[in-house]
Amino acid sequence: MIPTLTWTDEGVRFIDQTKLPLEESYVLATTVDEVADVIVTMVVRGAPAIGVSAAYGVALGAHNTRAATVTEFAPEFEQICTRLAGTRPTAVNLFWAIDRMKKLFASELAAGTPLYQIKVKILNEAHAMYDEDIAACKAMGAHGGALLPDEGGVLTHCNAGALATCGYGTALGVIRSAVEMGKNIHVYADETRPFLQGARLTAWELMADGIPTTVICDNMAASLMRAGKIKAVVVGADRIAANGDFANKIGTYNVAILAKEHGIPFYCAAPWSTIDMETPTGDAIPIEERNQKEVTHHGGKQLTPNGVGICNPAFDVTPAKYTTAIITERGVLRAPYAESLRTMELAAK
Ligand code: MRU
Repeated sequence: MIPTLTWTDEGVRFIDQTKLPLEESYVLATTVDEVADVIVTMVVRGAPAIGVSAAYGVALGAHNTRAATVTEFAPEFEQICTRLAGTRPTAVNLFWAIDRMKKLFASELAAGTPLYQIKVKILNEAHAMYDEDIAACKAMGAHGGALLPDEGGVLTHCNAGALATCGYGTALGVIRSAVEMGKNIHVYADETRPFLQGARLTAWELMADGIPTTVICDNMAASLMRAGKIKAVVVGADRIAANGDFANKIGTYNVAILAKEHGIPFYCAAPWSTIDMETPTGDAIPIEERNQKEVTHHGGKQLTPNGVGICNPAFDVTPAKYTTAIITERGVLRAPYAESLRTMELAAK
């Protein structure tokens, strides 16, 4: 299994995704600030992995505290949560994980639980989120694998794999599961400029599994679709609004439009922790703008003339009308998503 993030006695150990595929190295975060840094610098990335990393960040903060009592720790707990919540704005899993920790802390505080026990409970909650994430990916795989064609090309964008989760992956979990079902799938991985999650990470982890994979430049998808090489598209999500619009890696929207134009099914696979019923539509999803250097430079080399205008939004929003189905661990949702999401949300309560 790919060790995306692991809790150890020394701290949280992350595979360094900025170095893959050329170098397999690890970063050990021993403080809340170090966990925040690995999230900001994208040593760890991908919505579910960011959420669980933040949960372990809270656990690390509780573990390291010098406070002697819960009352003394309470303001520090708030600061830890604020620090981690300020790392990346788009993936709602980050806020979902921190909220879950806040709820746990508030109820233990109210119950008068001593600090040493709260520390254990916070760590166990992070472990639970980790295990639940893998289980959710497996369940998504089972639901979504059945939707993929028995054979042919499947296009994915960015990396929504084991590296973006605690293991197995969302979109890549669906593909892995289809392959385990005996389907003859060939993956086309968009390289995903500017951070190249597809070329570097998706290609690396699918090759490790022996799943046939071809990396394409982002501008090649239309012509492959026209040539009949793509039978389905499956992508992940960073935040799904209550009406089914969803934010995912920049360029996902392009792929969705192309899929519609060519009559190709377009699936979005995400755990329920990515669904944000408080955000009514995609227009209200905050989109992270990242450092211009990700666009102007590659491998330390400058690509663009000095002073040229640059924009670098990390995500775009795909309107719900382009999505054939949303695959979650609870099942497969179809349009109208406002209704199917609400029904499934209520059924789980
Ligand atoms: O900027 P990143 O690499 O964190 O963006 C990741 C994506 O957009 C993924 O597709 C999304 O988080 C789903 S991961 C299961």
